[in-house]
Amino acid sequence: ESYDMGGHDTYMHKEIHEQADAVDRALRGRIDDRFSTVHLGGLNLDARDARAVRRVKILGCGTSYHAGQIGAQMIEELARIPADAEPASEFRYRNPVVDPDTLYIAVSQSGETYDVLAAVQELKRKGARVLGLVNVVGSAIARETDGGIYVHAGPEVCVVSTKCFTNMVVSFGLLALHLGRTRDLSVADGKRIIEGLRKLPGQIEEILANEAQIEELAKEYAEAKSMMFIGRVRGYPVAREASLKLKEVSYIHAEAYPASELKHGPLALIEPAMPTVAIVPDDELLEKNRAALEEIKARSGRILAVAHQEQEKADHTIVVPKNEDELDAILMGIPLQLFAYYTAKAMGRDIDKPRNLAKSVTVE
Ligand code: G6P
Repeated sequence: ESYDMGGHDTYMHKEIHEQADAVDRALRGRIDDRFSTVHLGGLNLDARDARAVRRVKILGCGTSYHAGQIGAQMIEELARIPADAEPASEFRYRNPVVDPDTLYIAVSQSGETYDVLAAVQELKRKGARVLGLVNVVGSAIARETDGGIYVHAGPEVCVVSTKCFTNMVVSFGLLALHLGRTRDLSVADGKRIIEGLRKLPGQIEEILANEAQIEELAKEYAEAKSMMFIGRVRGYPVAREASLKLKEVSYIHAEAYPASELKHGPLALIEPAMPTVAIVPDDELLEKNRAALEEIKARSGRILAVAHQEQEKADHTIVVPKNEDELDAILMGIPLQLFAYYTAKAMGRDIDKPRNLAKSVTVE
């Protein structure tokens, strides 16, 4: 590789540590304090177009699809536009109904993923408006879309995505704020979200400063053959992405479930050898999440919580700083990137190039 590892043992470690700067770059020059909104120069969507959007459909693969799931929630919450995310490959093979009032968003780090590009081309053929949320400037998806947002994460070398995921989610936060402020999001709420966004780089530094605790925990949990990841609403896509990160890089089997669905099946798997990683934000669902921890504890399951305060029912808690409820998902996955990294390291895995995986999948 031509690009310097800067004293880190892997690109994954380097890229995890670049996140505060990367987020700072995604925000730079975009915040408009006067009107409590953001400027997204390349969006190519005026206020009238933005107000005409009836639905948002986000398409991506892998980690980018997970970023899209968080993005969809932010858009629904802040702009009150129905939104959802779907794997681009599923979308393009089910002969989807393409609706002129839907805003389609293609998410991709490389901008070259074949399934995403093919979905964009199919949408364009049917006259849809498609935006890109892309990292690599001038890539195929950036060129094919009608406009979009560059996430400005900088080059990402490790096959598993970390800083680009975070910047994608931050970029969705910016888009949700922008769409919200063309609609019913108040000046006061716009201001509150802007303040939350500005806090992110400092809060990321705080999370990374806790690296030693995460390393210890990872060594302990690396003995597990399988792990469960749970979350609810904002925490669920965080759990899905954390579970993907762990399996990609450590090869430990992991699955993610909405905490509320445990009792409909996965609770049967819970026993001391099957630890659960629980995303427990301090929001309106805190008590519900605590009840899930109790159910797991009652079955002698081990629990690692990622939360805004120590969780009594958990065996261990990684405490992360609180932001605005709508933005918490941006931060809660970051300690679990380090958790995946240290688990893989304890197991002697090829961290930057996991077996059977490629950084970008440009064929079907
Ligand atoms: C591959 C990579 C993943 C990535 C996915 C989508 O599977 O291994 O890390 O999330 O492709 O890539 P993209 O470049 O479109 O974000």
